Amino acid sequence: MTGTGLNKTIRVTVPGRVNLIGEWIDFNGGTVLPMALNQAITLEMRANDRDEDTVSSRQFGDPRAFSLTAPAEGHWSDYVRGGLQYARENGWLTGGFDVTLDSTIPVGAGLSSSAATVVATLKAASLDRTDYDPVAIAMAAKDIENNFIGVPCGIMDQMAVAIGAPGEVIALDTRDRSFEIVPLPSDWCVVVVHSGIARALADGRYKQRRDECLLAAEALQLEHLCDADVSAIARLPAELARRGRHVVSEGARARDSITALKAGDRLGFGQLMQASHASLRDDFEVSVPEIDAMVADAITFGADGARITGAGFGGCFVCLLSPEKVDVWWQALLRRHPGISRVA
Ligand code: GLA
Repeated sequence: MTGTGLNKTIRVTVPGRVNLIGEWIDFNGGTVLPMALNQAITLEMRANDRDEDTVSSRQFGDPRAFSLTAPAEGHWSDYVRGGLQYARENGWLTGGFDVTLDSTIPVGAGLSSSAATVVATLKAASLDRTDYDPVAIAMAAKDIENNFIGVPCGIMDQMAVAIGAPGEVIALDTRDRSFEIVPLPSDWCVVVVHSGIARALADGRYKQRRDECLLAAEALQLEHLCDADVSAIARLPAELARRGRHVVSEGARARDSITALKAGDRLGFGQLMQASHASLRDDFEVSVPEIDAMVADAITFGADGARITGAGFGGCFVCLLSPEKVDVWWQALLRRHPGISRVA
């Protein structure tokens, strides 16, 4: 099937995701372990027979109209418009569309609301196609984030939200996009907590970290920084050495965590999460002191593991604990940090 004006209302729902472990390695050749959330975005789309797109959001407001080829402008609607423009350029759609969004995924929290919006747009635009393929959708969504929005992200978020289902962990090899789905054991409870500290990815800090990784890989003449040798990393200039140490150690932790997950070893997995947080805090330097304190208290009050999740610089942290402990643990954490809220 080729170009279409889609003269019916299409509705799709795409989840957010939380990354359990494997942080900042999805563009360094690592394996990552994201899990889809119940929080999701629902997108409705209908052809409008005009030469403009309109985008509105139940959370963010009334329709705004854009020409069919208008560039990104740093607005939440960019994620929809990037998807529509990609779909038109590739002959999936023709003409203008009215799109409405309704989302329960917190924005700027590290839970992939952006990836979910782009993937939802592409999914709606290609639902009728016989060659519909979620992995191809994820790759297209990454391309849009990299080139239309301008954030040089890896493939983790798009894959997680395009193929994931809540309660299932995706062990994703970001080199070849092969993945294995592993159900979360019934005696593992994953709690996602919003720190109350907002962050934005497009503000340049993501790109800065990514560039540091590319520089380190280049200095070591490697395609993937995850392959680096620890002794070679130690010879890099101090800051690059810290970034490299995080990437290599996180790659090893992510591999070990798959073994722990499959063995149902919650304590072992929790230890790996704790080591991941320390590495993100000290070597990759993407945490903030307030979240360090929250993560430390989450452990003190009884979680097996806790760590900042997603790109960091604020947003959410993810905790792992026994289901029986959750209620008392949460009350203690909330008393200590009244500004936090439980997302999942
Ligand atoms: C963001 C990016 C991902 C990944 C994470 C950090 O979510 O979109 O590609 O790099 O940060 O692990």
